[in-house]
Amino acid sequence: MDTTTKKAPSKIPAPKAQEAPALLRADHELVSGLFAEYENTRSASRKKHIVARLCTELTVHAQVEEEIFYPAVKLALKDKELVPEAIVEHATLKALIAEVEGVEPDGEMFDAKIKVLSEYVKHHVKEEQTQMFPKAKATKLDMVELGAKLAARKAELLADRA
Ligand SMILES: [Fe+2]
Ligand SMILES: [Fe+2]
Repeated sequence: MDTTTKKAPSKIPAPKAQEAPALLRADHELVSGLFAEYENTRSASRKKHIVARLCTELTVHAQVEEEIFYPAVKLALKDKELVPEAIVEHATLKALIAEVEGVEPDGEMFDAKIKVLSEYVKHHVKEEQTQMFPKAKATKLDMVELGAKLAARKAELLADRA
């Protein structure tokens, strides 16, 4: 087979052109999968690994929403409610994350914190996906351009934390 016509991808592939809501939804799904994995795990070292990943994903996701997506949505919708509420919810999420990040998963109190964090994330995600995203999609916002900005900033923040 001729393999010369198709080059292997370069080390850092260009971020895929994904619409902003699709990119954010994919993050939500990834995080929900990590929470499910945590629930099915007994091993403390495995839990620690999952929580580290969860904290990174949640923190980076919240930051790109706050820096890029929320301001654009707020402006396009002339919103005075959805975005401010989401920002307040992020603050609570960050406080919960701070309680588990880098902490040894040492028993029922730790598990309880992860459970509460997962329920809180679920609530927040539901509001974004059922209210904010549909309203934002109905505006003239360029979701592909916003998606590219989100992807680029995410890559930058993830590299900082690596
Ligand atoms: Fe959010
Ligand atoms: Fe989100």
